[in-house]
Amino acid sequence: MQKLELTLAIIKPHAVSNPVVLSFIRNLLKHKFIVVRTKRVNLDTETACRFYKEHFGKFFYNRLVTFMSSGSIDLHVLGHVNAIGLWRQMLGPTSVYKGQFQEPHCLRGMFGISDTRNVAHGSDSHESAEREIKFFFPDFSFYHWRNHDEEWYR
Ligand code: PPS
Repeated sequence: MQKLELTLAIIKPHAVSNPVVLSFIRNLLKHKFIVVRTKRVNLDTETACRFYKEHFGKFFYNRLVTFMSSGSIDLHVLGHVNAIGLWRQMLGPTSVYKGQFQEPHCLRGMFGISDTRNVAHGSDSHESAEREIKFFFPDFSFYHWRNHDEEWYR
């Protein structure tokens, strides 16, 4: 039996505020993944800085945290076999330019505006997924999920 994996998807403010893009993404998530948890939040700058602290010092850091705290974002904990890889594959490259030319059917290729306004975020490893899910869903129990909920979702 293949094990379900969890990842965190963050739908960025420009996508949340665009009803057509948002409903496209929601339908996609609903059909491709088990949507384990969902919530909409508005990040304050301090929380956005904490979430993106690994990028502190990079030239795009201020731009990224300012953008991510500029409007509502949707958070989704997604379950699937290889959920991390699958969601990142559906997103396409961070660089929207690359996405548009090399993978025009990925979400960033279709709806991305810039390397910051690139539609959505996806965890890049198991460790990041656990840390990011805990960051936004502090009461989420991985133990419980693996030992109880996971069975329920099969
Ligand atoms: S890196 O440099 O490899 O760590 O970048 P990456 O993991 O692909 O992206 C991390 C987040 O930074 C944003 N980003 C940028 N914003 C503005 N300008 C540029 N050039 C840029 N490069 C990366 C990108 O949107 C990623 O945001 P999240 O929310 O993690 O997807």
